[in-house]
Amino acid sequence: MASRHFLDLDQFDAGTLRKLLDQGRALKSGAPPAKKLAGKMLAMLFDKPSTRTRVSFEVGMKQLGGDVVILSQRDTQIGRGETVADTARVLSRYVDAIMMRTTTRKNLEDMARYATVPVINGLTDDSHPCQLMADVMTFEERRGPIAGKVVAWSGDGNNVAASWVHAAVKFGFELRLACPRELMPPPALLDWARKNGGKVIVTHDPQQAVAGVDCVVTDAWLSMGDEKKGETNRHNLLAPFRVDERLMAAAKKDALFMHCLPAHRGEEVTGGVIDGPQSVVWDEAENRLHVQKSILTWCLE
Ligand code: CP
Repeated sequence: MASRHFLDLDQFDAGTLRKLLDQGRALKSGAPPAKKLAGKMLAMLFDKPSTRTRVSFEVGMKQLGGDVVILSQRDTQIGRGETVADTARVLSRYVDAIMMRTTTRKNLEDMARYATVPVINGLTDDSHPCQLMADVMTFEERRGPIAGKVVAWSGDGNNVAASWVHAAVKFGFELRLACPRELMPPPALLDWARKNGGKVIVTHDPQQAVAGVDCVVTDAWLSMGDEKKGETNRHNLLAPFRVDERLMAAAKKDALFMHCLPAHRGEEVTGGVIDGPQSVVWDEAENRLHVQKSILTWCLE
């Protein structure tokens, strides 16, 4: 039987994603099964740093009765030229599942193609699906079903924005993306959303995007790997997209503020917003744990 990979939200039917969220909510509320992954081992490969992804997957596996092996790039022979394909074949002989945080989508796809165990996307330069599962869960805990609601993204059209596009199509909400012309999401992604009936609106005006929305989202100006792309220029391009009190005031009075973290107060968001009453960023971080336990269980069952 083919392995159950969790690579990107666009590959799933909406019903499966809904079941994963429901199971995540049940696990959060303490429902059994507590030790469903007893004896299972997850390998976690990190080509980039992480706090939330690393800790939430490790704690999640252990809470479910399993264990983890954590490998950074310098721990493996990938850093010295061993192929991802060979690494996938070898790891599959030792562990029951692989979580990978890497740069390119090709690395992730190679891992999934050559592994004989499930592979989970822990972030690539193109997407961050586990984050979006936690974000949708967080929204729905506070505001009920996300279908029919309106979410605005203000900032870089990056990997997290791409997963918001996938989520908008799969969960049936409107997404307004306000990004600088130079930092727009890939046209192919927007085409996919249109072809799949998504209500994804693109603008360069954050005030227009945020007007009357249920939730405002942003992310760091320098995603991991962007450090060499011209920091000053990116800051200049993204400064008008900062989420500050004035921008939040254009959203609904009770609009939520979301950020996948890590945050840079005074850059993409003001301290007043991220530490204010509309912010749900700590719930987003916590829900990574619960929804990833659901994803792990689905992959390994
Ligand atoms: N949001 C997120 O993925 O955080 P980490 O980079 O700390 O894992």
